[in-house]
Amino acid sequence: MASHSAEDPNRRDFIVILAQAFAGVGAAVALWPFIHQMNPDASTQALASIEVDLSPVKEGQAITVSWRGKPVFIRNRTAEEVKTAKAVKLTELKDPIARNEALPDRSPATDQNRTKKDKENWLVLVGICTHLGCIPKGQSMGDAKGDYGGWFCPCHGSHYDTAGRIRLGPAPQNLLVPPYEFVSNTMIKIG
Ligand code: FES
Repeated sequence: MASHSAEDPNRRDFIVILAQAFAGVGAAVALWPFIHQMNPDASTQALASIEVDLSPVKEGQAITVSWRGKPVFIRNRTAEEVKTAKAVKLTELKDPIARNEALPDRSPATDQNRTKKDKENWLVLVGICTHLGCIPKGQSMGDAKGDYGGWFCPCHGSHYDTAGRIRLGPAPQNLLVPPYEFVSNTMIKIG
């Protein structure tokens, strides 16, 4: 039963965020006829994107939002977590590729290449284990975060570090960084 109580806060956060995301999508749907006449590609893009307000997420906290049916982890990393991630050499990584959709395919998996310039405390990841698709733990305060302080996938024991890079276990790749941008100091647009 103990494991249930550890999961509940995570689930609550997800439901709340999901409801907000749906509200955003609802607004986009209402605009559909206008956008559709203007430019079909733009309309598709609008429905595929969500905006997330980061201002409630304090240092050390994380939220999960839903984007295109997938969980997206957003963590406001502590200075220590950033420092730890930056100190890792590429030769220590199981997957040395950034896996950042905003960068060329073979970009190295430095912490810099997994975050945005001057916003390095924010880490945004598709929260799906690259082994067989489970949702890793590590978003809630009480969660196991694995041996490298990031996320831990309990399905088969994959450990991700504080940059979301696979460090131990069967997962072959780093957690994916989805396309996103800062549209203001505290707001990101994913997709
Ligand atoms: S699905 Fe995550 S370790 Fe297998």
